[in-house]
Amino acid sequence: GSRAMAAMAVLVMFFVAAALAAAGGAELVEHTFVVSQVKLNRLCNDTLVTVVNGQFPGPAIEVNEGDSVAVQVVNKSPYGLTIHWHGVKLQLNCWADGAGMITQCPIQPNKNFTYRFDVAGQKGTLWWHAHVGSLRASIHGALIIRPRSGASSYPFPKPDKEIPIVIGEWWEMDLDQLDKNLRNGYHLDMPRAATINGKPGDLYNCSGTVKDSNIVKVEHGKTYLLRIVNAALSSEYYLKIAGHKFTVVAADANYVKPYITDVIAIAPGETVDALLVTDAHPAGRYYMVAKASQSPKPVPQIPLFITRGIVQYSEGPRKEEEKALSDSSTSSIMAPEMPDEHDAATSFYFHGNLTSLQPQPVPANVHEHLFYALDGGFFCRKGESSCNNDTNMMGMVNNVSFQLPTTTPLLQAHYHGNMSSIGTLRELPDRAPRMFNYSETLEPTSKATSVRRLRYNATVEIVFQSPVLADTYANPMHLHGHDFLVLAQGFGQYNAETDVATYNLVDPPVRNTVHVPLFGWAAVRFVTNNPGVWFMHCHFGHHSSSGMAAAFVVENGPTLDSTLPPPPEDFPSCKTYNSRVSYE
Ligand code: C2O
Repeated sequence: GSRAMAAMAVLVMFFVAAALAAAGGAELVEHTFVVSQVKLNRLCNDTLVTVVNGQFPGPAIEVNEGDSVAVQVVNKSPYGLTIHWHGVKLQLNCWADGAGMITQCPIQPNKNFTYRFDVAGQKGTLWWHAHVGSLRASIHGALIIRPRSGASSYPFPKPDKEIPIVIGEWWEMDLDQLDKNLRNGYHLDMPRAATINGKPGDLYNCSGTVKDSNIVKVEHGKTYLLRIVNAALSSEYYLKIAGHKFTVVAADANYVKPYITDVIAIAPGETVDALLVTDAHPAGRYYMVAKASQSPKPVPQIPLFITRGIVQYSEGPRKEEEKALSDSSTSSIMAPEMPDEHDAATSFYFHGNLTSLQPQPVPANVHEHLFYALDGGFFCRKGESSCNNDTNMMGMVNNVSFQLPTTTPLLQAHYHGNMSSIGTLRELPDRAPRMFNYSETLEPTSKATSVRRLRYNATVEIVFQSPVLADTYANPMHLHGHDFLVLAQGFGQYNAETDVATYNLVDPPVRNTVHVPLFGWAAVRFVTNNPGVWFMHCHFGHHSSSGMAAAFVVENGPTLDSTLPPPPEDFPSCKTYNSRVSYE
């Protein structure tokens, strides 16, 4: 009867899919993401968290390069939400970018929307996350892109197994409240713990056993590909595994020349693919530790966030250790020696040591030279230009704190030639109003929806400058819809005369997030080959939510295939929207 027919249909579909896969044909990868609030137990508490399909982290999307993706988002949460495909280039498909109030109105509670996009010209690990408020702290997952012709065409030894490692944070507070606080310049909210694949590990109060740890089971003498994502809001992490080294082979879904290191530095928004060869002796248990780094004093110090999981060889532990294991004893587990939390140099060298495996020519003729000063500034609550104590501390780019539009998403306004309808719109200046004056007093900031218009196919160079004062942070700057060629980084104040000589014009790494070092600068180039409105922001939650952001408006080119098509027909509208969160 119908069952047999259904079975037949499934069989036929299977053969079609198999034939397509064998022929290397592009496939449609489909997912349904049901977003809802569930109680998850961590650190001895049941906490109500907003997640996809009941999972923290959410499901991984796995594609072959060239595939199409359709993700139906079913919003059963009380929040308006969007999902952003972090790092996916979305050629001529800015509508699918999922940046709340930049490219779309949030999907309202009890509504659905299906994101459709292709993954082309990228290989490695990216990720997806919510892009409204601070919801990405719990709504995120990996997006894995394998080569079209399978694992045999990896430009490195074929791994025996691939293992996603998502570094995240466990928040017990309401993420809506967190975001309100950040937008009001209150920065003291903290996660309760750091996590590896959703597990806090055994160092926190009320965890303390191996069952709270992410366990990676391995066999001796194999090669594993770790696909590492930093999905945390608050911290860059150092990742180490006792007794092992990594070979870094990709970052932000771009291959890099194999780089051997015992420590990986990964800032929020970044991804790193690294090979792990399990050749340790004895074949026992080894801690995998992710430790948050932080700025030195006088920056307010946060609690030390260390999460750890275990790499466990199937060959060990031997008999005499088995009792200890059943007691959840951790005494036999080897722990790595971690960098100091104030060590910024290890991150600087890690990032500086990456070079592209398949270098593309660096465009030499720069059309736009932009200098973006990244800092925190004071904003007078009552609007005066000077005020004594009544100030909020806001993130800013060139002394403007980005504010999302409240009624019409930027892309929609741009598409309809109606940007002037956005009352808060302002052109972002190409340089800071006065270059850093190096005084200890904070600079002022003002709030606006700051945009920079760029014509199609322009080569843009941006020098990002972090403050060089003692009271400051590093800044992982992420651009939607494009990759940066990271030409150079340095400590101190950027010097246009001398620092250009340090640019790597041969094999610069290609990244969607450039980590602008603490007390330093980074120089990048990119080509505006993708029309639309693309958000650019620091991936630290407390920076982006408080305004360290801007939007690039990339104009259409002269031809049909350089022109943004119209929005999908079922695109969410803001009309009846009544949100508990504002969008970011
Ligand atoms: Cu990872 Cu604007 O986002």
